[in-house]
Order: sequence, then C-alpha cells, then structure tokens
Amino acid sequence: MLYIGIDLGTSAVKLLLLDESGAVLNTVSKEYPLSFPHPGWSEQNPEDWRAAVMAGVPELVAGFDATQVAGIGAGGQMHGLVALDADDKVIRPAILWNDGRTSAEVDYLNNEIGKERLSALTANIAFAGFTAPKILWMRKNEPENFARIAKIMLPKDYINYVLTGVHCCDYSDASGMLLLDVKNKRWSAEMLEMCGITEAQMPRLFESYECVGTLKSEIARALGLPESVKVCAGAGDNAAAAIGTGTVGDGACNISLGTSGTIFISSDGFGVDPNNALHAFAHADGHYHLMGCMLSAASCNKWLMEDIFSTTDYSAEQAPIKDEKLGENHVYFLPYLMGERSPINDTDARGTLVGMTMDTTRADITQAVLEGVAFAIRDSLEVARSLGLDIRRSMLCGGGAKSPLWRRIMANVLNIELDLPVTEQGPGMGGAMLAMVCCGAYPSVREACAKLVKVSETVKPEPELTAKYEKRYQAFRQIYPALKGVFPALS
Ligand code: XUL
Repeated sequence: MLYIGIDLGTSAVKLLLLDESGAVLNTVSKEYPLSFPHPGWSEQNPEDWRAAVMAGVPELVAGFDATQVAGIGAGGQMHGLVALDADDKVIRPAILWNDGRTSAEVDYLNNEIGKERLSALTANIAFAGFTAPKILWMRKNEPENFARIAKIMLPKDYINYVLTGVHCCDYSDASGMLLLDVKNKRWSAEMLEMCGITEAQMPRLFESYECVGTLKSEIARALGLPESVKVCAGAGDNAAAAIGTGTVGDGACNISLGTSGTIFISSDGFGVDPNNALHAFAHADGHYHLMGCMLSAASCNKWLMEDIFSTTDYSAEQAPIKDEKLGENHVYFLPYLMGERSPINDTDARGTLVGMTMDTTRADITQAVLEGVAFAIRDSLEVARSLGLDIRRSMLCGGGAKSPLWRRIMANVLNIELDLPVTEQGPGMGGAMLAMVCCGAYPSVREACAKLVKVSETVKPEPELTAKYEKRYQAFRQIYPALKGVFPALS
C-alpha cells in the first residue's frame, strides 16, 4: 500500500508518497504567499493551502497506482487561527504562529489571569503566537468577525476538514492553542469561557494516529484517489517531524532548523517546566513532550542570504568560513527577527548584529547568523538541562541541517552528538508514518519509528572547539539582557 504525507509549512506545502517500507517514491512542493500586513503581523490565506494540496496530490501520484493509496497524514504549522463561519467558509486570513500582534492579550492572560492559573489549566502560559490570545484579539478588534465564528481550527485541521468534511484536531497541535488541558487531553472549559467561545465551536479531539474519516467523494474524484483513503488526525509540525526522526520514548530529542527552530524532548509521562519557558505539549505517539521554539532559525540565514546579500548560493557564502574561524568570531547575532518565543517570550526583541570592527567581513556576518541561531537553541537546551534532563544526543532535521558547517557549529555550541536521519523529509514523513499506523500497517507509532527510521551520520562535538564555543556562548548570553530594555523604544 501507499501513503501520503503532507507538511503544511509556512512557505510551502510539501507532499510525499511513501511505500510501507518507508521508501520515498515521490515528492511535490507547492509554494504560497505569506503576508506581513503590519510590522510583526503574519497571515496566510487558508484557501491557498487548500489550492496547493488539491493541485499537488494529483501531481504526486501521477505515474503510480493511485488505487494503492491507503492513508493520508498531515503535519502542519502550529497555533495558526483559522476561523470558519456557519457555512464552513473562512472568515478572515489565518493569523500564524509567528504573528506578534497579541502582546496586549498576552499581558492580560499572563499578568491578570496569571501564569500560575494558566499553567494549572493548560500546562502552559501565553505566548504571542498561541491561538487563545489571537481569539481574544479578534474579539476585541474584529467583533463582527468574532461573532460569525462557528468553528475554530488549526492550519492542518483545515486541510483535514477539506479532505473529509470532519472538524477535527489532534492533541499535539491542540496543545499549542492554550485551550487544551494538556495533561487530561480535553478542552479546558475555563479557558474557552475566558476567550468567549464554547466547546461546540471547537473541533473534535483525536490521537494523531487515529482515523478522522475517509475522503469525501468529490475530493477523492478531484485528487484521483479511492474514497476509501483514510485520513488520520495528524500532528503539529514539530511532533510530526519528531515522529519522522524517530524521536519517541523518554528523553529522546529532536532539533529542527526550519523556518522556526525547535528543541523537542519526548517523554513518557506528563511534565511541566515550572517556569513555563518550555512548552508542555502532547506528543503524536500518545505521550507528551517539552519543547523550546525560537521563531526565526533557518529563516535568519535565508533573510541574510536572499534579502540582504541577494544570493541563493548559500554554500558559496559559507565556503570562506574555514576551520580556524570557528569559535573565533567576534561578531554576534541575536536571531530575534520576529521577536522571540523560547525561552525569553519577548515580542519586542529584534534581530541584532553586535561586535563588528573595521576588519569584519561578509563571511564573519554569515558565520555570526549561523552561530546566533545555535546559541539561541542552546538557551532552550539550558532550560531543559536546568530541569535535570540530561541530553547528550539529538536528531537534527530541517532545511538548515543540510549545511555541514551549520551542523558542526550546532554540535559544538550545544556540546551534544547530532544524528541525521537517512530520510530527511521532516513533518511530511511523520505524517505518512502516522497514516501507516492509522491504516494498521504498524501496530503503534513507536514500532513504525523503530522499523522506518535509520541514522545516516552522526556529528560529534570536538572538545577544543566546544571549549571555544563555551566562551562565545557565555558572551552571547550577556547581549539580550543588556538590550532588553532598549528594544521597546525601537518599535
Ligand atoms: C511551534 C511553532 C513553530 C511552528 C512552525 O510552537 O510555533 O515551530 O509550528 O511551523
């Protein structure tokens, strides 16, 4: 049988066709626009996601026996607010995970309702990108739109709705709404009330590998697939990527260098970071995880390369960064181009280059950006370490992991071994694996991971370089606290 994985990302949807042995038979990617209607805002039109999936799937299966497709699973960008009216029409553009418009609502939730109460109800506190503050924003700023809301969904749930007609959500993605009682896996009545919504407006909850429905007949016809294709609930993109890299079981770790940068620590039992700097979410394997999320990771490098240096030849820019330069850079970069989530939770923070002198080169700045992202991931790793989590190795995935230089910087800044999966297909791979479990090809997510995920290469920290980077990291750590008070005045 064949399986389709959907990675509903921020810049594109990436589709992949997998057979039961995990071999990737085909991939298709379709881009869509991202709009920043005001500084710090970030929106996308759910219709563009729908159109990209509907156009991409027929291309994906062309030349293959489509009658063999048994299941579809999606991993999607998390937290985005998709609001549907009573006719299931999208009310306004989706407000995305990296949108920073809700600082007033975040202040209200964290300071007036209080972090302790939020954490007791949901295992998390408010961050600007989370869904509940966006609902409050809509209630205050767009009351007519708010009054029309019949259903609230997350991005990949909208695609699942288009495919099956079912309003559904899985626990991993629902965890990032600040509306789910994560520990007990049910909507929090108190949080819903606080946001002025009812449970009837929320989608039905599933485990990621559970079947939410089969394809609607007109959709099956349009896609050229059998109506019997099962659609599983899927997962938030980080949980899906973690499945795709086999990150299951107590203490297993995955680091993703995608548009966002995340460190994802799987755990068998439910646990909360007492300071809520790391998110406490459900995992797609039926268990839980802790996660630190930085808002701009590989996107910092893309911004420097494409928007500032006007090049797409990333390796040519990295070529002058020779061995002897590593750990010696006196330029530092704070990667807060969209504000920052973990661990500082500061929508006012901004990207910053500091430490330049007359001999600073273009390559030093390129290096500083790669290092700045690694240092910022280390900030979240340090929070995990402070909770007693002894992380010595991690999987590494995402577009940024394709750069051997960046991999080496990461291993040495974090001082952990980094394993690269043989098949690097991110959340789409995890989505397809969840579909396999949904269709009974594997008895559990963990067994699917054990059978399907193999490591291709391990990047080891080098003691001399690690020591140099330790000094650099200690310097990096001083920059944000020194500038924190200045950032609000810059906006
Ligand atoms: C996770 C987060 C991002 C998005 C990116 O909390 O906000 O990783 O899911 O797609």
